[in-house]
Amino acid sequence: MLRRDDVTAAWQPAIWAKSAAAKSSDLQTIADCIDRWVAYRDDDAQGVIRDAMRPIIGPQGLDAAQSLIDTLLDELLADLIPSAPVDLVTTIAQSLPAKLVTTLLGCSSPDMEANLPAWSDHIRGFLASDQERTAAQAANTAQAIHAMQEAVRTTAESGVPGPLLRALLDAVDASTIEHEDAIANAVLLLFAGFETTSRLLGRVLQILVALPPAHRPATPDQAQYLVDFVLRKRPPVTQLARRVHLDTDRCGCPMRTNDMLHLRLDASDSTTPELLAFGGGRHACPGGRIGTAEAVSCVLAVATQLEDLHAAGPPTESGGRVTALPVRFRRLGPRSAR
Ligand code: HEM
Repeated sequence: MLRRDDVTAAWQPAIWAKSAAAKSSDLQTIADCIDRWVAYRDDDAQGVIRDAMRPIIGPQGLDAAQSLIDTLLDELLADLIPSAPVDLVTTIAQSLPAKLVTTLLGCSSPDMEANLPAWSDHIRGFLASDQERTAAQAANTAQAIHAMQEAVRTTAESGVPGPLLRALLDAVDASTIEHEDAIANAVLLLFAGFETTSRLLGRVLQILVALPPAHRPATPDQAQYLVDFVLRKRPPVTQLARRVHLDTDRCGCPMRTNDMLHLRLDASDSTTPELLAFGGGRHACPGGRIGTAEAVSCVLAVATQLEDLHAAGPPTESGGRVTALPVRFRRLGPRSAR
């Protein structure tokens, strides 16, 4: 991945050149935040930031995260109205990851949950754009980043930080990272924790609703099978970029320093048994287990607790994301073993 110094060298000119019509203050807000994201750094601080996140969103944090997932899911299911049309995207696929990541950071609020999908969409669209970025795109992205920074900053400075933000702030006190690194990486966590997982949940729930009831997952293993299938065939992130730092040859293909590699993560099949959906190496996704746990719990809860679940209209999609999944169910049954 790009080193921190490379962000100025590689990202900023790309952003500026393609956004000639955008205000420079908008572009500066975007560049200032993303060049502190662990995702774009290979310096010592990369390890410090990753180490800080690990106890909360890595395997060690899974038990605590699982009980939070269960509690949030129970609340969300209890809010659904039986017999009325329900959109499983807004009520579950977006709400669960939004509530989980904002609770872990300590900046959960109805406003934050309502705005996160649109903010995340603006940031993803801006980062993924391979065409001329418009001034409106830059302004929306800057506004989204600014609002997320403010929410996290207020929590860090005068609120009650959740365990994930607390861990980043403790790393500021104990080591070489700066306060702004903690804020910027909390923004990254809001975006990375929401965007990917809500996409995954939307896709697994779409498949679940389309399956005949007798074929829907009824055990944790069956739910895991469905989630793994989607992670292989329709992963939320389909492409990664890496920059070559040393001349090398791989499989007869010469690579030169500074070449950009574009890696496809939806290339897993029976001949590539490893799961590519979470990337790899020092930047591999630290939150993948939590995202997977959210999806497995969600599949089981929807399949086993929403009795007589059936589609109430066709699902809609945009940009590879399920955007609406209308269903009806008769009543909410008891929680099965998730
Ligand atoms: C199932 C859902 C998820 C998928 C498919 C996913 C996928 C990815 C991918 C492909 C990357 C880039 C990896 C690389 O460059 O090699 C990534 C990075 C990252 N993800 Fe996830 N992710 C998911 C859930 C989460 C969650 C729930 C969180 C946090 C709560 C999270 C936090 C991050 C962070 C902080 C990075 C940057 C890591 C770094 O550059 O060191 N992700 N994720």
